[in-house]
Amino acid sequence: MYLPSLLPLLTLATSALAFNRPLSTSGRWITDATRTPVTVVGTNWPGHLEPMIPEGLQYQSYKTIIARIKSLGMNTVRLTFAIQMVDEIFERNGTDVSLRETLVNALGQANGTKVLESVLKSNKDFSAEMPRLEVWRKVAAEMGRQQVALHLDNHVSKAQWCCGAHDGNSWFGDVYFDVEKWKRGLAYLAAKAPEWPSLVSIGMRNELRQSTVSPVPLPYDFEDWYKHMTAAASAIHAASPDVLIYFSGLNYSETLAPLPLGTPLSTTNDSLIFRASDFPWANKAVMEIHVYTMSDRINTTNCHEMKKALYANGFNALDTMNPEVVYPMPVVMSEFGFSMNDDVWKGVYAQCLKEFLPERRAGWMNWAVAGSYYVRSGGVDVDDTWGLMSHDWSAWRSDSTVGEYLKPFVRETLAGKGACT
Ligand SMILES: *[C@@H]1O[C@H](CO)[C@@H](O)[C@H](O)[C@H]1NC(C)=O
Ligand SMILES: *[C@@H]1O[C@H](CO)[C@@H](O)[C@H](O)[C@H]1NC(C)=O
Ligand SMILES: *[C@@H]1O[C@H](CO)[C@@H](O)[C@H](O)[C@H]1NC(C)=O
Ligand SMILES: *[C@@H]1O[C@H](CO)[C@@H](O)[C@H](O)[C@H]1NC(C)=O
Ligand SMILES: *[C@@H]1O[C@H](CO)[C@@H](O)[C@H](O)[C@H]1NC(C)=O
Repeated sequence: MYLPSLLPLLTLATSALAFNRPLSTSGRWITDATRTPVTVVGTNWPGHLEPMIPEGLQYQSYKTIIARIKSLGMNTVRLTFAIQMVDEIFERNGTDVSLRETLVNALGQANGTKVLESVLKSNKDFSAEMPRLEVWRKVAAEMGRQQVALHLDNHVSKAQWCCGAHDGNSWFGDVYFDVEKWKRGLAYLAAKAPEWPSLVSIGMRNELRQSTVSPVPLPYDFEDWYKHMTAAASAIHAASPDVLIYFSGLNYSETLAPLPLGTPLSTTNDSLIFRASDFPWANKAVMEIHVYTMSDRINTTNCHEMKKALYANGFNALDTMNPEVVYPMPVVMSEFGFSMNDDVWKGVYAQCLKEFLPERRAGWMNWAVAGSYYVRSGGVDVDDTWGLMSHDWSAWRSDSTVGEYLKPFVRETLAGKGACT
């Protein structure tokens, strides 16, 4: 919905991203509307915690935060959301929760009202009674104006800090993970693409993992994964045929190993193979993979071992010279991150990724543009030592990480743009 008061100039500018919509896939590449290969490079911006709006708005305007991201040379933002945000619209028969209500629900009357006042002070075009999704629409519109693409990531069903095996959000059918509501929520937001000019892609679910709290045993395997992920992709595609659809795999998005090799996903059915070409979204499927130093299966202190593991876990889908790779696909590292203190960026893990991803011409989004959270795991105004921003989102938390690591990393990744292998 465009407001009639928008200036024609702004309306014009909204159509130009760093690349032209719609995006598609062609073999191992993401391509833009002109079939030119593009590499997505960006950061994560959390919006999936209890207030269900993008974080940081009590300290800075959304325009300022987007401009900061833009200043890194990035072309994409992975904005995370909770399915609960959409469920509540349906529960209220189409009437959204207001900004005031969502903050009071999340933080209590006193703290919620205080945060609301700060949000309104920092964002003069917001009002207390505006629908929550209007905040998202404004953010999406501003990204369009600043030529940054929006990737919406479904992080959780129930809004809260993510991700553990015991949080009820982990696997299809888990305590809070209602599969039908999940598909409904994804389709609902995908359908915003015509009105949200920056929206180019959707991540179906962040860091799938085995549940330790589900009262009923849930099949945790690629067969169950296939059933739900392909159904959700079809729901998204039916709602919005232009958006790219990101598939993340098992063990906290660590692996999608069977996909590129065409390995059967079922122990009882050899024909169950992931082939995007079996579906209407054949040229929309992208793989996403994460790696953190907490992984107990990947040696992140040994770059050679780490690269080997990343390749085997799915980055091989980018390798068109490997005859075993029967289903090449784009692969994006949609999360990696580390503490902004000290010299962590000089360590093996961070440096290895800075080598590996440009070498493979892979896109990425780091975790995360954040300084503090409205509320996190019960704490109010919680500082994020891994966030790119200072506590009040006014400056970089670590100038050396941003200046000597992140910015060159962005440049080196984009330098391969258009060079097809
Ligand atoms: C939504 O509509 C249903 C059916 O008309 C009604 O029973 C329910 O009370 C409504 N809920 C709200 C929150 O308005
Ligand atoms: C409000 O925040 C303060 C800390 O800033 C905390 O002590 C208090 O319990 C919070 N109140 C509610 C209702 O959450
Ligand atoms: C996930 O991690 C577990 C525990 O380390 C491991 O046994 C299992 O093989 C992993 N699953 C996949 C699909 O890699
Ligand atoms: C095996 O999987 C294929 C592909 O999804 C499906 O068409 C077929 O019906 C399945 N066969 C059995 C016996 O379940
Ligand atoms: C990981 O690699 C380091 C450096 O090569 C090595 O010292 C260490 O033993 C390895 N750890 C494991 C668990 O293999």
